[in-house]
Amino acid sequence: MEYKHLPLIVLVLTPALVVAQCPFAPKFKEIGREQHQESDKSESGEELDCSKLLYRTYNGYCNNLKKPDRGTTNSYYARLIPAGEYRKESTLPTAANVSKKLYIDISITEKDYTLASMQYGQFIAHDISNRMMPANGIRQITKASSYLDLSPIYGNDKEAADSVRLFKGGLLKTETKHGQEFPESLKKPTVEDNCSDVRDPDGESCYAVGDTRSNQNPQLALIHIVWMREHNRIARVLSSLNPEWCDEKVFQEARKINIAQHQHIAFYQYLPIVLGKQKMIEKKIIYDADGYVDDYDENADATALDEHGTAAFRYYHTQIAGHLKLINDTQHSTGALRISDYIGRPQIIEKSDNFHLLTIGLTLQEAMGVDRYHDEEITKYMFKEGHEFGEDLKAIDIRRGREHLLAPYNAYRKLCGMKQAQEFSDFKDVIDPELVNSLNGLYHHPDDVDLTVGGSLETHVPGTWAGPTFHCILMKQFYNTRVGDRYWYEHSGELGFTLEQLKEIRKSSLAKIMCENAKLSKIQKDAFYLPDSENNPVTDCEQLPSVNLNLWKETKSEA
Ligand code: HEM
Ligand SMILES: *[C@@H]1O[C@H](CO)[C@@H](O)[C@H](O)[C@H]1NC(C)=O
Ligand SMILES: *[C@@H]1O[C@H](CO)[C@@H](O)[C@H](O)[C@H]1NC(C)=O
Ligand SMILES: *[C@@H]1O[C@H](CO)[C@@H](O)[C@H](O)[C@H]1NC(C)=O
Repeated sequence: MEYKHLPLIVLVLTPALVVAQCPFAPKFKEIGREQHQESDKSESGEELDCSKLLYRTYNGYCNNLKKPDRGTTNSYYARLIPAGEYRKESTLPTAANVSKKLYIDISITEKDYTLASMQYGQFIAHDISNRMMPANGIRQITKASSYLDLSPIYGNDKEAADSVRLFKGGLLKTETKHGQEFPESLKKPTVEDNCSDVRDPDGESCYAVGDTRSNQNPQLALIHIVWMREHNRIARVLSSLNPEWCDEKVFQEARKINIAQHQHIAFYQYLPIVLGKQKMIEKKIIYDADGYVDDYDENADATALDEHGTAAFRYYHTQIAGHLKLINDTQHSTGALRISDYIGRPQIIEKSDNFHLLTIGLTLQEAMGVDRYHDEEITKYMFKEGHEFGEDLKAIDIRRGREHLLAPYNAYRKLCGMKQAQEFSDFKDVIDPELVNSLNGLYHHPDDVDLTVGGSLETHVPGTWAGPTFHCILMKQFYNTRVGDRYWYEHSGELGFTLEQLKEIRKSSLAKIMCENAKLSKIQKDAFYLPDSENNPVTDCEQLPSVNLNLWKETKSEA
């Protein structure tokens, strides 16, 4: 295996390098798309030198040294095809009609895969993008930093990060309830905060977190809390190993380790299911590596693609289950939450034993199939807010694609190396003939078919969870996400880890993170797959590999 060693090492570091200083943290103003032209200065008026930042900023500024605002919070989405190109405004079928015809309510589960494989996907989606409402103009803005940097936990700018930090011991703020850490509650939650306080019978609240979307559903809040607790667990260990470290240093080192674990789980455990491991290796999205991976490319743009956030990655809405099972230690289902009853009401996870039972549910309940069938909980009842019926998430997705002026499906076929269809029957190369007939019945012209729709009907590339068009878009996004991140965890040099530390990071797994932070006693090794006595046996938590944090004890010579 060969790796390119690019001269990223220009950064090799002088004593002037800005480390987290005790007792005062460096005061950098985080600069976003709008402000950066005016001033590239730190708050104290010094020239902001991105190359001196040892840790990533919260909003992503400075990640790319040539274009420091690339991939930052409040950037325009990147695009594979410019907005509005190709779109003929002939009369399109309504999004609701398309959804009703094609996204049928049938419950088919995804054999072998757990609900965690859905839920982790949503967590990654929120890390990478968040459309700003309302859409204005032909270029849309995302208010999440594009880098895979646990921004749901740490916030998308310094202000959000400061609001969740305790500023003591490197910890995130928490409230302890029945012996477990939860985020603080929002004092006056609003619908804007994705919190349904509207029909709030018991004065339930939402969590004050880095990305309010984490309040959206109980299982997402649960994953969020598991990562929040993991940060605090790491911070406590680091503090005890290095009692002389100040809050800022502990916080940033714990954050760096936590982000590395998340990047590792996302790229080496979750994405191979979606994109196929071999295909990812071929396209250098991952490496079969023991050593460093040093192929950072400052010309790669990690900015979220609109085609990814508004079409391709939304395809996995198909995996959402309508009822979240509560499963106990002896693997019995003891009940379930109807998801539409708990949108924006995350604190149900604190009631009695729910946190524990929902965690096991995530790892033992099957995800819904990756197909055109959707649970009616999301096509009929989403956001019902106490009413009998709600909205159709798939219709929302189609409408969003139109609002963002995504080019039609046909244009992306061409971009992805397929034949641009002249007539509907040309779609039969990758779409089932019966579905092509349905498309023909709904749309006037092959060029009218929405990307969201055409992409979701394609037969999957073997060994993956996507048809060729979505596969192609997702591969481009995740390649850029990794290769365009100067702080990627597998890099050598001052911004990375020692090789021994990296080898420890590579032991992390969602299963172990859940063990540590959701009080499990046993779990299957790979939480994305259902247990299987041969390949994925249920194992005592202590037997699962863990990251040896002792390697983060600073020795005298380094200090
Ligand atoms: C219980 C599970 C989920 C619910 C209730 C849910 C719901 C939603 C809602 C309401 C939106 C905003 C729609 C709009 O107004 O445009 C959204 C956006 C999105 N969802 Fe989901 N979703 C879930 C799971 C997932 C999963 C599993 C994935 C991918 C693996 C995903 C990917 C996305 C993406 C990429 C966006 C757009 C992000 C952006 O704004 O750029 N979601 N989802
Ligand atoms: C949507 O479907 C309804 C019922 O089938 C039909 O009457 C209506 O014309 C359709 N609207 C469009 C714009 O296709
Ligand atoms: C609430 O959630 C929606 C999508 O789920 C998101 O677009 C919006 O930004 C969220 N609101 C806030 C204040 O984060
Ligand atoms: C799990 O639930 C089943 C069925 O309700 C019950 O028989 C069993 O005792 C429970 N196990 C535990 C560990 O609570």
